[in-house]
Amino acid sequence: MKKITIAIDGYSSTGKSTVAKQLADYLGYIYVDSGAMYRAVTLFAMQNGIISKENFDFEKLKKLLPSIQLEFKKKPDWSKAHIFLNGKDVENDIRNLEVSEFVSPIATIPEVRTKLVAQQQEMGLLKGVVMDGRDIGTVVFPNAELKIFMNASAEKRAERRYKELTDRGDSVKFKDVLRNIEERDNIDTTRKDSPLKKASDAIEIDNSDINIEDQFHTVLQLAKDRIAGR
Ligand code: DC
Repeated sequence: MKKITIAIDGYSSTGKSTVAKQLADYLGYIYVDSGAMYRAVTLFAMQNGIISKENFDFEKLKKLLPSIQLEFKKKPDWSKAHIFLNGKDVENDIRNLEVSEFVSPIATIPEVRTKLVAQQQEMGLLKGVVMDGRDIGTVVFPNAELKIFMNASAEKRAERRYKELTDRGDSVKFKDVLRNIEERDNIDTTRKDSPLKKASDAIEIDNSDINIEDQFHTVLQLAKDRIAGR
């Protein structure tokens, strides 16, 4: 059967990774969470005194970029591939609110984007890939056969993110989660290099009021149509 490339872009916490993973599992495709790569670079920057509330040393990050090695690895009992930063599994460490606070500024740096986009394009060479992010349909895979653009109200997205964080035991306030989402929307859509925007040929889904199953069936039907060349 023909294999295609599926690009899923959209705002923070719109459930992109949920639908991307469902599709990849169903179709037997590789799933790549490109946001995890920006988060891992951010964690590296935090660990190496490059970014904090007081300081942001762009130059040091640019110099150290070649020493950042990212890899996705999967074990049979993991539901998804984990991201490894210089050989260490950081899948859990990159999901906290502190990383979320710094990731959007890090993702504005063109040198960071060039490095990560090249690696993402390499991962898509074999087709049969579902990748989610902000610039997948516009920059990483402009020729993707299927492009989805996801949105939902900021409040709905913050509710989901708050539940995710508190379910895993993080102590966060709803207002901080909402503020972080609104700040990231602002930085992600207004940055100069590859801002978050809907590709002209992307199909938009607002999932404020759609349940996960209905959304999956809609997107799966679109994928089946593209695979059949429709
Ligand atoms: O998908 P996420 O929320 O984990 O992504 C974290 C941040 O990374 C997001 O706020 C912007 C950035 N990002 C990006 O600039 N380009 C991508 N393809 C994916 C994420």
